Amino acid sequence: MSGICDGRVVVVTGAGRGLGRAHALAFAAEGARVVVNDLGVRLDGRHPDARADRDRTSAGADRDRTSAEEGLMRQGGPAAQVAAEIRAAGGEAVAHAGDIATTAGAASLVSTALETYGRLDTLVNNAGFLRDRMLVNLDEDDWDAVLRVHLKGHFLPLRHAAAHWRAESRAGRTPAARVVNTSSGAGLLGSLGQANYSAAKAGIVGLTLVAAAELARYGVQVNAIAPAARTRMTEHTFAETMAAPATAAGFDAMSPANVSPLVVWLGSAAAAGVTGRVFEAEAGRITVMEGWHPGPTADKGARWSPAEAGETVRRLLTEARAPGRVYGTG
Ligand SMILES: NC(=O)c1ccc[n+]([C@@H]2O[C@H](COP(=O)([O-])OP(=O)(O)OC[C@H]3O[C@@H](n4cnc5c(N)ncnc54)[C@H](O)[C@@H]3O)[C@@H](O)[C@H]2O)c1
Repeated sequence: MSGICDGRVVVVTGAGRGLGRAHALAFAAEGARVVVNDLGVRLDGRHPDARADRDRTSAGADRDRTSAEEGLMRQGGPAAQVAAEIRAAGGEAVAHAGDIATTAGAASLVSTALETYGRLDTLVNNAGFLRDRMLVNLDEDDWDAVLRVHLKGHFLPLRHAAAHWRAESRAGRTPAARVVNTSSGAGLLGSLGQANYSAAKAGIVGLTLVAAAELARYGVQVNAIAPAARTRMTEHTFAETMAAPATAAGFDAMSPANVSPLVVWLGSAAAAGVTGRVFEAEAGRITVMEGWHPGPTADKGARWSPAEAGETVRRLLTEARAPGRVYGTG
């Protein structure tokens, strides 16, 4: 296997299934040696054997999914499966089954790349799970678990990889290092029933901007994607939108593999000069997302009274662009 990632070593978190798996396969197909991370948890982040979660799954589809996931765990877990798949296709890969939202897991992820392949070039932060509830029903545990896996699960691998790249740079070996983070439309626009997830994914955009600015001097570029694809996260909730085409001949628009080419390019040396950006990627479309920009403004040059502030805000709002609609509304 050879291509635009020849000689590079790439770590992909949550690569045992869904988007992460597609990214890992696509990087390997472009010549990268891949560290395939996945803890092998269920869609709500619990271990496949977790009792509390199993008791809640009554629907047939959930039961089928549960036994499929238990099957995967018996075969060494999803990370081992994907690493084996890459090797069977002639690529190089090693599995890592740690929790990326812990210091030990993130540190061992980076050291697995360094000890196995002697280098680290690209980190794709992708792992995560959902605990959707309307805000008034959202438990503290569901808030903490989702913030932890997405936000801390991005920060910790990034922080450990960045320490390695800073050392490389200081030793005179400035890397062409790349980080691709995974946000979501929910983080950019908000999504009903996903206050925890939307907050975490918005936080990932902030983390991306700061990391891009701080790490540029060490040769590290950091971007984020907001993907949409058919995975276990979406295939039931958005069944119609995510469905595969009826015939194999049609373009399978929502295949996760359609998101991976952008991720592979952003993770390659070819992406030189592109950093601190957010891209939406879905089907055959790539969109540069433009962030917060100052809109209509008024400056009195002195303190407003509340009534004046209100009048001014109403006038400015008539001149401002309407915000994008929160997913799930209207
Ligand atoms: N599918 C979509 O349309 C969509 C849309 C927007 C954002 N995303 C984001 O894309 C990423 C991938 O999601 P997906 O749809 O492929 O879901 P998925 O459930 O198929 O894959 C996520 C993987 O992450 C792993 N994981 C969870 N917690 C982990 C941890 N602590 N350590 C290591 N691995 C862990 C899971 O075991 C799972 O294999 C997520 O960050 C998700 O929020 C997906």
